[in-house]
Amino acid sequence: MIRIGLLWLLFVAVGIFGLPRPGMAKDPAHVPLAKDGLHDSANKSLESLQKPAQALGTFPHDRLGEVNWVEALDKNLINPRTDKEGKQTMKVLDQDIIMTNTRAMPHVRFPHATHTRWLDCTNCHPKPFLPVAKGNVVPMNSVLRGEFCGACHGRVAFSPFICERCHSVLHPGSPKKWW
Ligand code: HEC
Ligand code: HEC
Ligand code: HEC
Repeated sequence: MIRIGLLWLLFVAVGIFGLPRPGMAKDPAHVPLAKDGLHDSANKSLESLQKPAQALGTFPHDRLGEVNWVEALDKNLINPRTDKEGKQTMKVLDQDIIMTNTRAMPHVRFPHATHTRWLDCTNCHPKPFLPVAKGNVVPMNSVLRGEFCGACHGRVAFSPFICERCHSVLHPGSPKKWW
């Protein structure tokens, strides 16, 4: 009886607080700097910095509540510099790669263009990805553990728990569009 009671309590707690998972949204509520666990909350000059909610609040957000940086860039809401002086231009490669080793999940569309607007080829080649289509074995649990795509997704780019932003290409063996 007691065991069942505790189990229910666990279910209710998980229902309310969610499972703590790596790669989950990091800052959906744009927490104040003093509470983000990174800044020194006792330092008075924190107040002189712009508040995250003020800086990020008007940007487009994804369904986990984090800023959708791709949309922000598309809409010219941000204009990131290529280097310190902002003089160089990015070498954008407009080539999508469809990654098909996804079992029943929709295939993954890897867009080079989206990435090379911010990143250099050497951020990904030759490590963690050999520049060869279908030339890499990428297990999903490694991505969730922070390897391959997970080196960025879940850290500085959108969470790996928004499956459909990567698994966006339906195939005969996949479920219908759920997003
Ligand atoms: C950041 C991009 C990204 C996101 C988000 C993502 N995946 Fe993946 N997933 C991949 C890549 C890349 C592969 C490997 C495809 C290949 O090698 O052809 C993969 C492969 C898989 C595979 C097959 C390989 C294996 O290890 O079983 C499954 C199943 C899978 N993903 C499920 C999911 C689920 C469920 C989610 C959401 C919780 C998700 N993925 C979110 C990129 C992503
Ligand atoms: C964010 C990571 C990332 C960046 C940045 C990146 N790539 Fe890639 N690239 C990939 C992935 C992932 C693949 C697919 C690998 C696979 O299918 O196993 C790939 C594949 C390739 C391929 C193979 C294409 C084919 O048809 O075989 C070439 C060539 C390539 N990239 C060149 C580049 C160049 C040039 C740049 C810079 C302009 C660049 N990549 C930037 C991740 C990246
Ligand atoms: C070196 C860092 C890095 C790696 C590695 C990386 N990404 Fe990304 N990715 C980004 C950044 C940065 C963005 C743009 C910001 C954002 O969307 O959060 C992005 C955006 C994307 C988008 C665009 C989503 C949209 O809405 O248009 C897709 C799809 C994507 N990544 C898939 C992948 C897949 C699949 C892999 C692995 C095969 C991967 N990424 C590896 C950094 C990375």
